[in-house]
Amino acid sequence: MTAEIIDGKAFAARVREKVAVHVARLKDDHGITPGLAVVLVGEDPASQVYVRSKGKMTVEVGMNSYEHKLGADTSEADLLALIDSLNNDPAVHGILVQLPLPDHLNEDLVINAIDPAKDVDGFCIANVGRLATGQKSMVPCTPLGCLMMLRDHHGSLSGLDAVVIGRSNIVGKPMAQLLLGDSCTVTIAHSRTKDLPDVVRRADIVVAAVGRAQMVPGDWIKKGATVIDVGINRIDAPEKGEGKTRLVGDVDFASAVEVAGAITPVPGGVGPMTIACLLANTVTACSRAN
Ligand code: GUN
Repeated sequence: MTAEIIDGKAFAARVREKVAVHVARLKDDHGITPGLAVVLVGEDPASQVYVRSKGKMTVEVGMNSYEHKLGADTSEADLLALIDSLNNDPAVHGILVQLPLPDHLNEDLVINAIDPAKDVDGFCIANVGRLATGQKSMVPCTPLGCLMMLRDHHGSLSGLDAVVIGRSNIVGKPMAQLLLGDSCTVTIAHSRTKDLPDVVRRADIVVAAVGRAQMVPGDWIKKGATVIDVGINRIDAPEKGEGKTRLVGDVDFASAVEVAGAITPVPGGVGPMTIACLLANTVTACSRAN
């Protein structure tokens, strides 16, 4: 058996189309154009690529994009002053501070300075608490994208055994909350988990979000399980030529695709869904504000 490949690229394009329709309606009915402000501190090359891509897609769905690029030596006070001005700017409905921040800046302090209603990453304490208690919140984009693909594939997730590998605040923990909200029986596995292969083998749904290339082999996967691979890892690819690299997930795709019922590829799986969900969160924030 070969697994169904869940096409995140196509799914994300459909999400963006829906966002564009919603944006057009807000413009026509209320004369409002949703605006997303993205703040980048420093020159991390990967972050620069993400921010450029976010800006481009924001404009493509008809929203306003405001990019704030600050030097790596920006003071905490200056960054907090910028966030305060964005919090008070009626043209800005979503604020995203690209992580990681340079070491001298306190990430928790900065994230929690964002108005929870504009926190389109869903990272501030108020949104984390609301998600955990089942209240209306901003939901972190990557786990939201994973949930959308899982719901689309399964219909109902109720009663399914789900294992989330990884306990980060950005993916693992909110993913577990979302699956619990959909009535899965949820296990969060991590680097100290005993018998990880056995834990994963029990799962109907596996979400791998550890950031270790190809660490989940196919023989850990239950036959027919759905595998969502959040990892984006660059590895050497000598087969492509000297010095070449390629992207792989946290799951060993070649062996997992033989046992899983459905699986997301890397690239082209979860990755494109993250920005699509960011745009969806921004339009949601704008609708709630107006
Ligand atoms: N860095 C890596 N992923 C993310 C994300 O989802 N949001 C932000 N703000 N920074 C990130």
